[in-house]
Amino acid sequence: MRKPIIVGNWKMNKRSQDAMEFVKEVDSKLHDGADFGIAPAFTALWAAQNEAENLIVAAQNVHFEESGAFTGEVSIDMIKELGVKWVILGHSERRQYFNETDETVNKKVKACLANDITPIVCVGETLEEFEAGQTEAVVRRQTRDCLADLEGDVKHVVVAYEPVWAIGTGKSATTEIAQNTCALIRDELKNVLGEEAAQAIRIQYGGSVKPNNIAEYLSQPDVDGALVGGASLKVDSFLELVNAVK
Ligand code: PGA
Repeated sequence: MRKPIIVGNWKMNKRSQDAMEFVKEVDSKLHDGADFGIAPAFTALWAAQNEAENLIVAAQNVHFEESGAFTGEVSIDMIKELGVKWVILGHSERRQYFNETDETVNKKVKACLANDITPIVCVGETLEEFEAGQTEAVVRRQTRDCLADLEGDVKHVVVAYEPVWAIGTGKSATTEIAQNTCALIRDELKNVLGEEAAQAIRIQYGGSVKPNNIAEYLSQPDVDGALVGGASLKVDSFLELVNAVK
């Protein structure tokens, strides 16, 4: 039985004061039916982590090298110092605007596993690829390449299926598309990491998830949670998501 995992991806929103207040409001109102988390910007990680007892706090990116001449980057050791144990990798906005590739994601996943950090690895096709009927090929390739040659406790890895055309557009994927694509990803996980890991790994759906549609996604057999952008930013809306999956 896979425990659902709901994570709010805050993107470039909220200062540390806002993050601290959010965690104070939300942290005691969670329940055991799922794992819940937020991914604040680097500058707000400490404030959030310091306040969180139940919420998972995740970074939105990390560099794969330990240290060195990488201006503007943050290392795994630096987020670990704050007590942060989770990181989102390969989000489509990082792929689109910051040159993230399956190869760099793979290096980051390896560095995370070597340092007891749990990665949430994002995959998903663009609108063009969706319309060309390439969804299966794209998500299988991304899953394979991002998770190639891993060592360590791979069962804790989380995969997020986020069709790019559904992110921030209000055009959420149908539950059928979400389920079918998550099932394909799980099948590819079997090829890459073996049956046991494929059954243990949680796969989230992401893309215009809201309090009124989250339960339907989670009722699908291969959808084990959600990665939520816009609807995770306000306390009320976040708590509606929390209560919708009770
Ligand atoms: P959205 O974003 O929920 O605002 O569509 C999802 C994401 O980018 O993770």
